[in-house]
Amino acid sequence: MTAAIQAENLVKIYSKSAKSAEKKALEGLSLTIPKGSMFALLGPNGAGKSTFINILAGLARKTSGRVVIDGLDIDADRIESKRRVGIVPQEINIDPFFTPREALEMHAGLYGVPEKKRRTDEILAALGLSDKANAYARSLSGGMRRRLMVAKALVHTPPILILDEPTAGVDVELRQQLWAYVRELNRGGTTVVLTTHYLEEAEELCDTVAIINKGALVALDSVPNLLAKVQHKTLVVQLTEPIAALPEVLLAEGFTLDAKGLKASLSYDPAVKPMDGILRVLSSAALPFRDMSIAAPSLEDVFLAVTKS
Ligand SMILES: Nc1ncnc2c1ncn2[C@@H]1O[C@H](COP(=O)(O)OP(=O)(O)O)[C@@H](O)[C@H]1O
Ligand SMILES: [Mg+2]
Repeated sequence: MTAAIQAENLVKIYSKSAKSAEKKALEGLSLTIPKGSMFALLGPNGAGKSTFINILAGLARKTSGRVVIDGLDIDADRIESKRRVGIVPQEINIDPFFTPREALEMHAGLYGVPEKKRRTDEILAALGLSDKANAYARSLSGGMRRRLMVAKALVHTPPILILDEPTAGVDVELRQQLWAYVRELNRGGTTVVLTTHYLEEAEELCDTVAIINKGALVALDSVPNLLAKVQHKTLVVQLTEPIAALPEVLLAEGFTLDAKGLKASLSYDPAVKPMDGILRVLSSAALPFRDMSIAAPSLEDVFLAVTKS
């Protein structure tokens, strides 16, 4: 397995400024992102995700440690390693006085893409911006600006595409479109790395997930393996009529009641507490209920479990 991105012992300390105290944002992060993967980088706000990505993009300088992009050390091969990635930063920054077409052409020029190799129209079409190709960027909606940012990251056909919270504040339909396109790029061989705080999104889209917290890696695995780490399931019993309080036997079993008094829930580990025992306790309570459901753990449970401390 070749690595698209390899970070070893990465440390980033933002020095003290007039506005903020010294801040250690990355505390020895080591992480390997496999080539061709669809990789999610998750972590609570302030975990260091953007700092990591900005170092990859050459927008922030690492304090120490080593980063290799597509086989190129970012210190030894600054320029070439940067060309291997297309980065969509968290903050939208587009020049309001350029049209999308001009912005892409200019960006391609910056990367030294020869005119006959430019894919401006193809990229505009892929991101649904053809209609707006010649409109000033200041007239674009927030979602269109976000797509223009993605378009800009693609002009030099990078083998690695990195998106930092690309769907924050983007409406659902657009999000689906964007993901469809990103998936297609991934199928074509592009390694895709994204940060998101929509955990369902990572669960649905990505094959591998890294969770970082306080500047360090706390989990790295495939989605099924991560889910297997969280054993507990949730049983929800829908009562026929609202009740004021749960019977003592159910409280003792660990059930809780929702605010409306209509749902009794139990978080349980099937390995420790098999369902047949729970059902016996439930029927001994003789509480009329009309339905029940069991929810498997989600990536959110994993996330909460590993970022608790
Ligand atoms: N330019 C900066 N100067 C000082 N501190 C910063 C700067 N950028 C980020 N930080 C701090 O570094 C930590 C990590 O931030 P960031 O990488 O943006 O996290 P995330 O993207 O995971 O939310 C936070 O505590 C943040 O306040
Ligand atoms: Mg961020």
